[in-house]
Amino acid sequence: MNIREATLEDDKELQDLQAKCPQGKTLIVSLVNTPDFFARAKAYESYRVYVACDDHRIISSAACGMRQAFIKGSLRRVGYEFQYFTSPDYRGKGIAKQLHKQIVDYLTQQGAVLSYLLVMEGNLPAMRLFASLGFEHHCALVMPGLAIYKEMKVAHEEKMWCLIPIGFKDPDHLTMLLRYLNNRALARGVEQIFCIGERNHPFLTRCMKEFVRFDTNMHLYVKSLQQHVSLSDAPVYVNGIDL
Ligand SMILES: CC(C)(COP(=O)(O)OP(=O)(O)OC[C@H]1O[C@@H](n2cnc3c(N)ncnc32)[C@H](O)[C@@H]1OP(=O)(O)O)[C@@H](O)C(=O)NCCC(=O)NCCS
Repeated sequence: MNIREATLEDDKELQDLQAKCPQGKTLIVSLVNTPDFFARAKAYESYRVYVACDDHRIISSAACGMRQAFIKGSLRRVGYEFQYFTSPDYRGKGIAKQLHKQIVDYLTQQGAVLSYLLVMEGNLPAMRLFASLGFEHHCALVMPGLAIYKEMKVAHEEKMWCLIPIGFKDPDHLTMLLRYLNNRALARGVEQIFCIGERNHPFLTRCMKEFVRFDTNMHLYVKSLQQHVSLSDAPVYVNGIDL
């Protein structure tokens, strides 16, 4: 097995790997960054995507990006890690662990004082992986989701849409859009739509009252890369792009 930086030619293989790696055990989330696997990483100031290969075949991936964050009142450079996927046949062999080492080297060289990542509730393999790599569970953030298709079954083969945050002056306009999306989703065989918003925001509560809703915890894990750097107990702001 060898580890290298991913190139644009790996795009299709990385999408295939991602499709084989739904996240979570209770709430299962299956996403494929199509048509461009790297679009996710390009959202960050500078990024790296690493792959592990067995005989030139990609068997695992991990990515990271740099950003700025306020830590105890000072603007610092931090790393964010994501797109950890190991092909089901190659799990439990320490491959994600090795990819993380590569990422730590890169983030340290870029001056990151800490690294953070988000794990969806119930994703025990990921939680154990990151705990074993020295990450500490900092807090759980609530992500309200909508099951627009009322008789929802959760299985990773099903297609989902993610509604990205949008602003409306009149809640009724959003209700109209949601109804339209719901019908389009049903016509295309998409069984869930989810979005991220404030838990009890009156605007969302009003627009979404016709739909089935479920709240999910996103666990924030943090690992210090420099001595004496840690988060305070103050509320944490997570940029929507990380989700
Ligand atoms: C999470 C995932 C990337 C782990 O990849 P992996 O290459 O199998 O992980 P490793 O073999 O490097 O595991 C390292 C450590 O993680 C923990 N771990 C990994 N898989 C585990 C499992 N199924 N159950 C419990 N612990 C597990 C163990 O502590 C392990 O260390 P150990 O073997 O010394 O006990 C892989 O299971 C996966 O692709 N899952 C689906 C996608 C996903 O959830 N990604 C994470 C998103 S946040």
